[in-house]
Amino acid sequence: MSLTKLAQDGGSPVRTDKLPPRYVGVNLIGEEEKKLVCEVIDSKCLFRHYGPGTPHFANDLEREFKEYIGTKYALATATGSGAYFSAMRALEIGPGDEVIIPAFGWITDYAMVDFFGATPVFAAIDESMNISVEDFEAKITDKTKVVVIIYYQGAAARIDEIVEIAHNHGIKVFEDVAQACGCEYKGKKLGNWGDIACYSLQNNKIISCGDGGLLVTNDQKMYELAVRYHDLGLMRDTFKANLEGPQLTDAIAGQQWRINELSAAVGLAQLRKLPSIVKNCQEKAGYLRGELLRKFPNLKFRAADPKDDIGILVAFDLGSNENVQFFAKAYEAEGLVYGPTSWCETINKIPPVAVRMKENGIFEQKTFDVTNEIDLRVAKLAILPVYSDRDMSDITTAAIKVLDVMIELKMI
Ligand SMILES: Cc1ncc(COP(=O)(O)O)c(C=O)c1O
Repeated sequence: MSLTKLAQDGGSPVRTDKLPPRYVGVNLIGEEEKKLVCEVIDSKCLFRHYGPGTPHFANDLEREFKEYIGTKYALATATGSGAYFSAMRALEIGPGDEVIIPAFGWITDYAMVDFFGATPVFAAIDESMNISVEDFEAKITDKTKVVVIIYYQGAAARIDEIVEIAHNHGIKVFEDVAQACGCEYKGKKLGNWGDIACYSLQNNKIISCGDGGLLVTNDQKMYELAVRYHDLGLMRDTFKANLEGPQLTDAIAGQQWRINELSAAVGLAQLRKLPSIVKNCQEKAGYLRGELLRKFPNLKFRAADPKDDIGILVAFDLGSNENVQFFAKAYEAEGLVYGPTSWCETINKIPPVAVRMKENGIFEQKTFDVTNEIDLRVAKLAILPVYSDRDMSDITTAAIKVLDVMIELKMI
């Protein structure tokens, strides 16, 4: 007979009051953001390029961000996607080019390639939940121009190996750091490994201004093209002042994805909190991982070294989707909240992508099957910087309680 009675079977739940809402940076919005936003309002300078006074928050955000990541250039944009599309323009992809993308990702990663008429080619993920280096290498052809690396929920990929393989083949590396802003790999920030990288400041991200984006690169020509594409094809004086050498590009047909000063002010206040967010989440994730491992030494965590993982997610393999579903339902019945803070999906399941891929006839089922299988058997628990010691203790107690029952039931 079972020693433990789960809440879903009539036992007492671990927790009866609510956890904080599942946002990382957004939960930390406070006096610092308010102060900078009030400065913008007081100055009446909402537009980044000119106004009744001297706007400076977008410039400050770019300067502090490039210093933080360690790149020569940074560009802030109105949305993450605005940065991503600008990066693809900077990489000069077009019809006839192939772009390798992990099959586990976000709509934007497919759309930005499709939009410029290039062909997306999918590579499977591995137990790190990031692109499989081996499958990336297998998908290279003489048409491959770019590889996209998506860092799912805070953890690095084997980016050093990827860059080496890519550059040996003349392939450019694009890093999608939307879900891993602040993460390092081998002591160097993600976003400073490849040729160009983008971040999102949307509501569910590690730092946020509601909607916003950032792009970084060490390459002057790519910076110029991204700047131009995000701002009507122009190269205004603020950006010219950042160039290391003489201008390398001429006007192009661009979009309008400029960030405004209100968003930049919030983004800047959040950026200043990022080092403490990372430290805080790493400590909490380390505690949960440690407690789970002490109790279940065979539990297989997502394959990423904890020092290359900012700790916003603790993910472990439960062997099957039925087990993950059992865990999630029982864990929520204990009064906790299951799931990550922002999402990736096996790309062929994202509705607009699925429709478009069928139209284009691009459908490599095996890659998606391998990817989906890994995603479905991995349980995911979000870690927030605002969690108190009691929150962390309840999360740990509930996870252990459910896993204990799963062992008693011989599910795992
Ligand atoms: C992995 C990934 N890439 C790109 C994006 C696009 O960012 P945004 O929503 O700011 O346009 C997101 C946002 O959800 C994301 O999670």
